[in-house]
Amino acid sequence: MRTKKEKDAYLIVQNERAELGGGIKRIDQQHAKGKLTARERLNLLMDPGSFQEIDKLVTHRSKDFDLDKQLILGDGVITGFGQVTGRLVYVFSQDFTVFGGSLSETHAEKIVKIMDMAMKNGAPLIGLNDSGGARIQEGVVSLGGYADIFYRNTRASGVIPQFSAVMGPCAGGAVYSPALTDFIFMVDQTSYMFVTGPNVVKTVTQEEVTSEALGGAHTHASKSGVTHFTAHNDAQCIFDIKKVFGYIPSNCEELPPEQPYELQGDELRPALDQILPENTNHPYEMREVIKEIVDMDSFHEVQPDYAENILIGFSRIAGKSTGIVANQPMSYAGVLDIHASKKAARFVRFCDAFNIPLLVLVDVPGFLPGTDQEWNGIISNGAKLLYAFSEATVPRVTIITRKAYGGAYDVMNSKHIGADMNFAWPSAEIAVMGAKGASEIIFKKEIAEAADPKEKHQEKIEEYTDKFAHPYHAAARGYIDEVIFPRETRHRLIRTFEMLKNKVAVLPRKKHGNIPL
Ligand code: HXC
Repeated sequence: MRTKKEKDAYLIVQNERAELGGGIKRIDQQHAKGKLTARERLNLLMDPGSFQEIDKLVTHRSKDFDLDKQLILGDGVITGFGQVTGRLVYVFSQDFTVFGGSLSETHAEKIVKIMDMAMKNGAPLIGLNDSGGARIQEGVVSLGGYADIFYRNTRASGVIPQFSAVMGPCAGGAVYSPALTDFIFMVDQTSYMFVTGPNVVKTVTQEEVTSEALGGAHTHASKSGVTHFTAHNDAQCIFDIKKVFGYIPSNCEELPPEQPYELQGDELRPALDQILPENTNHPYEMREVIKEIVDMDSFHEVQPDYAENILIGFSRIAGKSTGIVANQPMSYAGVLDIHASKKAARFVRFCDAFNIPLLVLVDVPGFLPGTDQEWNGIISNGAKLLYAFSEATVPRVTIITRKAYGGAYDVMNSKHIGADMNFAWPSAEIAVMGAKGASEIIFKKEIAEAADPKEKHQEKIEEYTDKFAHPYHAAARGYIDEVIFPRETRHRLIRTFEMLKNKVAVLPRKKHGNIPL
């Protein structure tokens, strides 16, 4: 390598070697599993020509188990930066064709380097995970590498958005990096996450379970709530990341990206007047309400298959990114339980951390009663949602569409815990509890002594309903700022969020709060 030509040729060959990862055979195996390679995934994610790779020629330093004879340039992870829809991001993409994407000391160092750069430069971090976990031959240095990443995930939390796509295996302690990030995206049938795999499970508990059932995308989307988005394949997973990215600012100091929007006439939505059923015990689809309120097709639901009694997701109102939390009467009458409280609380905290205003739609009969809920901690879990709303300083607006009973009224972004504007529809019922339960308690004696207790109970239910099942006591006290017709909702929200756009709210000075975890 003496001449300039030879030196140039050497660099070209080195780049080509790095780009080939674990070689054609392993690339074919990756494709045969229905997975894209690490580079193909990056090509889909990044704006064309924008990706700039760093540490492409890094190799591991291990000598044990003949590893020094297996030096693959890049060491199983591609790292760098570039643009996604014109905005700077830092990214790593694990290459399963190189030692199964396993994490060595140097592999970890590469990830740590771009994490530090992302933090310094205030840009989001996107990790595409596809790894057999700690590089077994390396032992503790690999574990140390994981911990270096976990530490940075935690330090970066709330400063820059962090997305984790799990696009293959993710087992053991490795799951904790995605778990520390803001959103997890999984691919159905080709990805899984678990702390201990099926073999260990069988040894310890005698339970037989497949990887898919234990920790596949469907399991984490519906049972554990660990994942936020599930895709059919790698390409859709990348598309999902880009979609969510569009609602989120690059760091906690910035406002979310806006889309241009021209007001269209009075912005009335008459269809909203028709959604609620006449019988107040009948369900209706809260997604229909959301659809009418937000900009066309802009609602992007998060965790749609987990705790279905509450809906969370991103949307746009007059072009502005808005986080939505809504009780869902179609599922358990929209009751608040442990899972729903945790799901909503985490979302509220994400939106608050990244300056995304919150819209809360309320139709909640209360907290779910029962031993299962009490023994599993509905008290401390319900308190998470209360805490998350109380602490949030972003603009917060509430619409009570129908029921707002008991403690759930307080929790669901009531005026008392810092909401900025609270509206109610004429159909709203704001009271300590529903008319049936309330009349049973306060008219117990009268009902028992009546000639026809059933008829008396019905009479008392009606009396209580007339007295309390409406929004006007709350409106009389200013707990509700305005009672509005459903059709006016979008119009009011556009004006209200515009009015609140310069809101400043400061929390008391503290090191950090103590959320009831
Ligand atoms: C080194 C690994 C590896 C690992 C896989 N490979 N995992 N090399 N360290 N952790 C290598 C294999 O030797 C193989 O090399 C290639 O990657 C592909 O692996 P296969 O087994 O052929 O692929 P597949 O059948 O798809 O199975 C994938 C797999 C399996 C399920 C991930 O490889 C596996 O069980 N790996 C071990 C997983 C594990 O126990 N990891 C440690 C978890 S604990 P060749 O050369 O044949 O292509 C952990 C702790 C983290 O990670 C702690 C943080 C605090």
